[in-house]
Amino acid sequence: MATSAAANLEDVPSVDLMTELLRRMKCSSKPDKRLILVGPPGSGKGTQSPIIKDEYCLCHLATGDMLRAAVAAKTPLGIKAKEAMDNGQLVSDDLVVGIIDEALKKPSCQKGFILDGFPRTVVQAEKLDEMLARRGVKVDKVLNFAIDDAILEERITGRWIHPSSGRSYHSKFAPPKVPGKDDVTGEPLIQRKDDTAAVLKSRLEAFHKQTEPVIDYYSKKNIVANLHAEKPPQEVTTEVQKVLA
Ligand code: AP5
Repeated sequence: MATSAAANLEDVPSVDLMTELLRRMKCSSKPDKRLILVGPPGSGKGTQSPIIKDEYCLCHLATGDMLRAAVAAKTPLGIKAKEAMDNGQLVSDDLVVGIIDEALKKPSCQKGFILDGFPRTVVQAEKLDEMLARRGVKVDKVLNFAIDDAILEERITGRWIHPSSGRSYHSKFAPPKVPGKDDVTGEPLIQRKDDTAAVLKSRLEAFHKQTEPVIDYYSKKNIVANLHAEKPPQEVTTEVQKVLA
C-alpha cells in the first residue's frame, strides 16, 4: 500500500507537490471550524462556501450536490430522492443524515467542515448533535443567510452550473466570460431542474416551514450569526470574514 502510494507520488509533477505541501503548511496553522450555512434557495450558501473552505481548510459538504450526484448516477439513494427534489420538497431525514454521517469520516473533514444545506429540519439538527457528540466535537457557528423571498426568483432562474466542478454562475450577477461556457474548462453550463419559478415556491415553503425552526434551535445555543445576504457577493464575503475572525 505504502509502496504504491510512493510510486504514484513519483509521477506527480513537482509544482503540484509543492503547491499541496504549501497548502498543508498553511492549513496546519488554521483553527478547526465546524460551520453550518443556512438560508433559503439562492441566498448564496453555495457561492460563499468555496471561499470559506479555502480560507480555513475545511471540507464542504453540500447535501443538495450529493443528492444530485446520486440522482444522476441512479443509485438506490438517488432513486429514492429524485421525486421529492424535482418537486421542491425535502427528502427524508434518514437519507440525508446517513450521507452526512458517512461524509464526515473523510480525512478532508479533519480540520472541520462547512455543512451547506444541512441540517434542514430540527430532527436533522438533533441527529447532527448526536453524531458530533460521538466524535467529541460540536458546531462552532451557524451562518444565517437572511434575505427577502422577493429577491430569490431572479437569482434562482438566472443561475447556471458547471456540473462536474460545481462552479456556479449567474446570467446577470456573475456571468461566465463566454455565455453558456465554464470559465475554466470551456465545457457547457446547465440549469438545475428545480431552478424554476414554480418549483422555487415549494422550496421556499419547505424552507419557512421546516428549516426556519432550525435557526431557532441554534439561536438558543447562541451560535447564530445573521448575514445580510441581499448584499453583493463580495460584501457578504466581508461579513462572513468578520464573523469568523
Ligand atoms: P440544495 O442544492 O441545497 O438547494 P438550496 O438550499 O435550495 O440552495 P441553492 O443551491 O438553490 O442556493 P444557494 O444558497 O447555494 O445559492 P447560490 O450560492 O448558488 O437542495 C436542493 C434539494 O435537495 C432540496 O430542495 C431538497 O429536495 C434536497 N435536499 C438538500 N439538502 C437536504 C436536506 N438536508 N434535507 C432534505 N432534503 C435536502 O446562489 C444562487 C444564484 O445567485 C447563483 O447564480 C449566484 O451566482 C447568485 N448569487 C449568489 N450570491 C449572490 C449575491 N450576493 N448577489 C447576487 N447574486 C448572487
